[in-house]
Formats: sequence, C-alpha cells, structure tokens
Amino acid sequence: MSRLGTNYRGLGMKNLSAYTRTCFRRFITLKTRPKTDVKLGQPSYETRNHILPTPGNLTPGISAIEYFQRRLKLAAQLPDKSLAIIVGNTTKFSSGSVFYDFQQDNDLYYLTGWLEPDTVMVLEKKGSHGRDEDVALHLLVPPKNPSREQWEGSKTGLEGACEFFNADNVEDVSKAASYIKSLISRNNTIFYDSKYQAKPATESLFKSFFDFGGGKGNDSMMLNDIILKSGKSINPLRKVIDRLRSVKSCAEIEVMHAAGQISSRAFNKAMGKVASESPIQTEKTLAKYLEYQFVKGGCDKQAYIPVVASGPNALTIHYTRNDDLLYQDELVSVDAGGKLGGYCSDISRAWPNSSKGFSEPQRDIYQAVLNTNRSCIDLCHEGSNYSFHDIHEFSVRCLRKELQNITGFQNVTYQDIRVLYPHFIGHHLGLDLHDVPSVSRNERFVEGNVITIEPGLYIPENSSWPKHFQGIGVRVEDDIVVGKTSDEIINLSSGCVKEIADIESLIRNGVSTPGIDAELVVLDI
Ligand code: GLY
Ligand code: MN
Ligand code: MN
Repeated sequence: MSRLGTNYRGLGMKNLSAYTRTCFRRFITLKTRPKTDVKLGQPSYETRNHILPTPGNLTPGISAIEYFQRRLKLAAQLPDKSLAIIVGNTTKFSSGSVFYDFQQDNDLYYLTGWLEPDTVMVLEKKGSHGRDEDVALHLLVPPKNPSREQWEGSKTGLEGACEFFNADNVEDVSKAASYIKSLISRNNTIFYDSKYQAKPATESLFKSFFDFGGGKGNDSMMLNDIILKSGKSINPLRKVIDRLRSVKSCAEIEVMHAAGQISSRAFNKAMGKVASESPIQTEKTLAKYLEYQFVKGGCDKQAYIPVVASGPNALTIHYTRNDDLLYQDELVSVDAGGKLGGYCSDISRAWPNSSKGFSEPQRDIYQAVLNTNRSCIDLCHEGSNYSFHDIHEFSVRCLRKELQNITGFQNVTYQDIRVLYPHFIGHHLGLDLHDVPSVSRNERFVEGNVITIEPGLYIPENSSWPKHFQGIGVRVEDDIVVGKTSDEIINLSSGCVKEIADIESLIRNGVSTPGIDAELVVLDI
C-alpha cells in the first residue's frame, strides 16, 4: 500500500481521466448569509464557508490537526530546551500607501496556517517524555483594535490565535521584544534564519512591529538583534523545515491536485479559444484570461507572473512582459498556474495560434520536447533511484536523441544542447514555486516529493540553426508526485492536454462542458 493511502489509489497518471475531471468541484447557488459571531483576519469555516467547506480545516484542505502534527514533526528534530523562531512577513508597499498583495512567510504558514502580517511564531521544545514531545506554540500577533479594524478589516486577535490556531500562549506583537527575551532566557538553543543580517539595525524591518499599537517602550529594541546577540547557540531553521516540506502529505497532494486540475482546465479553455468566435488577440488578455479561469475554477490567485509569449518572444525563458500581439500561425508558449490554499501549480504548454494546427517545424520541435517530458516523468519513482541531477542529465541525452531525428539537426552536439536547452529540468513545487531550495539536486527522489518536469527547446534566430526552426520556443511542464513505484506516479497536471492531436482537436472544437461556467464552484477538499 502506498504511504499516500487509499485516496490516491487509482489516480496514477495512467488512470487519471482526461481534462473533464471535476472530482473536487461542487456547484452551489447563492444562499442567504449564514449567521455567525466569528470575525477573523482570514477565511474560516464559519465566515467563508465556500472557501473552507470542511469543519476543522484552517486553510483549504489542511486541518488544524495537520498543522499541529507538522509542529510536532519539527519539534522532534530539535533538541530539548530550544526555540524555533519565525518572524512573519510585513505588508510591502509599491509606492506611497499602495501595497502589494500580502505574502506570508511560507515557513510560518506551513506550521500554523496563519495569514496575517506582523506576526511572530515561536515553537518551544521544552523536553521529551518518552516519545512525546513537550512543545508549546507561542503566537505574537496584532491585537483586535476596533478603530484600526474599521479601516483594515477584522483581525483574528489574541483570542482567535488561541481558539482557532491552537496557540498555547499568545501575546500582542508590540511586546515581542520583551516576550522573546524571556523565552530565550529559559532555553539553550535557537533555530532562526535572519532575513536582515546585512542591514544596519536602524533599517530593521522589525521596526513596524514595535510601532504597531503605539508601544513606545520597546521601539528601539530590534528583535533580530535580540536573537543574534543573545549569546545562545543559533542554528539555521529553514533547512530543517525544508526537509519536512519536501515530502508532501496526502492532504497537501489533494490540494495541489485540485490546483493542478483547475489550472489544466484553464489552459484547455485558452487553447479552445483559438479558432472560436472570440479568439484572444494579445498576450496580456491571454494572461488575464488564464488568471480569471484559475480563480473562477476555485484557485485563490495566480501562482506567479505568467509567461505568455507569442512566437520568438518564447526564446526569453522568463518572458513576463506579455505585451505583444498573438500573431497568426505563431506558436503561443505559456507558463502559468493557479495557487490554492498557498500551494502552487506550474504548467507550461505551447499551441499554434492557427485553426490549421501546428506547422511542420513547430510539430517537430514540440514532439521532441513532449517525448522528453514523458520519458522523464516515467522516471519519477523511487525505484529509478534518480536525483534531479540524474534526471536533468537524462533529459539532455533524450533531447539530443530526439533532435537528431529531425532534418537539419542530425549533427547536434551536447554543446548545442546547452544553447538550445539552457535551463534545468525542474524544481520542487509546493508553497513556494521553487520549493525547498536547500534540498540538494543530488538527493534521490522519495515518494511524496512533488516536482516539476519541464524540458524545453528554444531555437535562436541566427544562421547557426535551420531557418524554418528559428524563433520556435517550447517548454512542456507538468507537476509530478514521485511514486514509490512507477505505477504510483501522479501527474497533477494530467488534465492539461499535451498530445498534438488533442491540442489540435481543442483548437478546432473548443471545450464544451455545458452548465459549468454558469455556476459558483466550491472545492470539496
Ligand atoms: N514558472 C517558472 C518555472 O517553471 O520554474
Ligand atoms: Mn517550473
Ligand atoms: Mn513554469
């Protein structure tokens, strides 16, 4: 039996049905607002039931118990009398009072599910009794404050941090300095990653914590300095958490599967627009069409600024200007994905902007990349004993072999491949797009890793390369759960069509799922 349990049996990539699959989706009609006294600073079962339809879940698909278990797993890695300290993110401003979409520190989020800015979490490992860890979660959060809430909306507050997020101890974050000092004094070891070491103390971003709520007494005490100058042993924390985050739980895979399938459907719908009565005509509107479909399908937002590149714009690997027209008969290369409950999907496809389908050169390059994508995915199981490094080397060999079968590329060398395929085969995927970066590319894959497989070919516009192929850029990227065996590999983006015949059929016939677009989606996760 797979560690991923019965839920995922039968969902292996070979069995997963096509892009019409809607297993996570339930369609509801608008009701009257349910009565509740609960007011939190983020969605909850009580206040935003369409986002969190399952009681006990703190964020989409992830229960309060799972968050608790994550903290226990972290504590099991820590010595007795130690602290793991994470300072959450603050709101960032683009200009004046205009702020960016808030992004929580993903380690803090992974351990708590807490989504408000200006928060500090401390996990205190007091000791171990047999197999049980004696662990306390301290959350230092912005307090409820009616006049502030009139402008900014509800805060979860100290009581909410206890009641909903299971903090053992809570404090107003404006008192963080003295609180942390006292915690440090009774412990021996600190796990902490300073984000601000390079900056002088006066520029510390922690200042905003201490300004918050008007707390004057601690304004000059910088939390970062307090920790770094505590005289205790300071150890990196992120590496320990990365290790936990690199193997996804069943619940995480289910959320990522939903994100992958929703994103897949958005891609399919975009392909279906090509020969429709209302074709998409610019890179920007295609980018926004995809973003809208991600959200309409149930994602919270797009996971990153997408690449939407017509023709030779695709030769720029991270082309994010997305400000050109979609020219007739060019290949449209898209790298995009939705984000759900904090988890990213990351899909790349290319399709012809033409009712005639792929041209011969487009077809040849696309098929070479697709074959490589498929062969690499087949290796994503423990039995292959592959690491990222190995699978990248394999993809280089595979692309070379594929190209050698194409007229004009028969003599392609490994050096050429470095020009035509300048990036790496993939990365871990999770709360971060490029997840758990401290995990080495030389580590063997293990069951439950979620990774992208994204080979590509980009033929430069110069005379070193056959004329008809110049300016073609293709990347085919899927999100893969590493299996114990080859039968247990799961392709989370399997719903996104990628066979040439399927893409051409979508272009000709569009996506037809009558009724679905008229209704409100709730995800059953
Ligand atoms: N979307 C960025 C990447 O594929 O890594
Ligand atoms: Mn990627
Ligand atoms: Mn990508």
